[in-house]
Amino acid sequence: MVVKVYKDAETIGKAAAAMFAARVLEKPDCVLGLATGSTPIPTYNAMINYFKEGTVDYSKVTTFNLDEYVGLTHEHDQSYYYFMHDNLFNSINVPEESIHVLCGTADDLEAECAQYEAAIEAAGGVDLQILGIGHNGHIAFNEPADTFAAKTHVVSLTARTIEANTRFFASSADVPRQAVTMGIGTIMKSKAIVLVATGAGKAQAVHDMIYGEIDPKCPASILQLHPNVTIICDKDAASML
Ligand code: PGA
Repeated sequence: MVVKVYKDAETIGKAAAAMFAARVLEKPDCVLGLATGSTPIPTYNAMINYFKEGTVDYSKVTTFNLDEYVGLTHEHDQSYYYFMHDNLFNSINVPEESIHVLCGTADDLEAECAQYEAAIEAAGGVDLQILGIGHNGHIAFNEPADTFAAKTHVVSLTARTIEANTRFFASSADVPRQAVTMGIGTIMKSKAIVLVATGAGKAQAVHDMIYGEIDPKCPASILQLHPNVTIICDKDAASML
């Protein structure tokens, strides 16, 4: 693992976006793994800037998002499909048919997960995956558990995650209780990973990810076993290292 500490969220976003830009410039038809949450937004802003200034062309890129809430349609403004279009896709030139976000309203969620896993494989796997980290050490919606879930699957959200995500909904009752998410094994197959974290609230999770036991109680700790992980965080998130 490489850990880089930068002064603020904007600088972190620029650093992560530069990694994406480098990947696309080197391999224009690369596969990018994308994430939702507040932390990646400055990365997406910087990726948009690269497009607007003509430095990066995303027209041959394929993307796969980590996860989606169960029950929210694409039009729901808290669905991750909507988030990604609002924060990135509407402002760059990835063709719509090359964008993959799990469908949380599929009739058969298990089949949706299996099909997603197969689509990632068929695309040749993810070249560079961005991750956030939850206060409880989750990555994507892989919550603390007794075992690491390998493949894309349906999950029930923990009380802590529901509480953390209530800020985006009218009330906690409106936060979906389930999600579909890439599994830990799916994420670990990415050729390179960049994890972004900001704020003191993430300090314990960042510490446990790097120094803790590799334990499904802190899902991010599995990243210790990945050969190409860059963690980019601010001083607050790095304060327990
Ligand atoms: P955040 O979420 O970036 O909104 O803090 C990160 C996560 O839960 O993975």
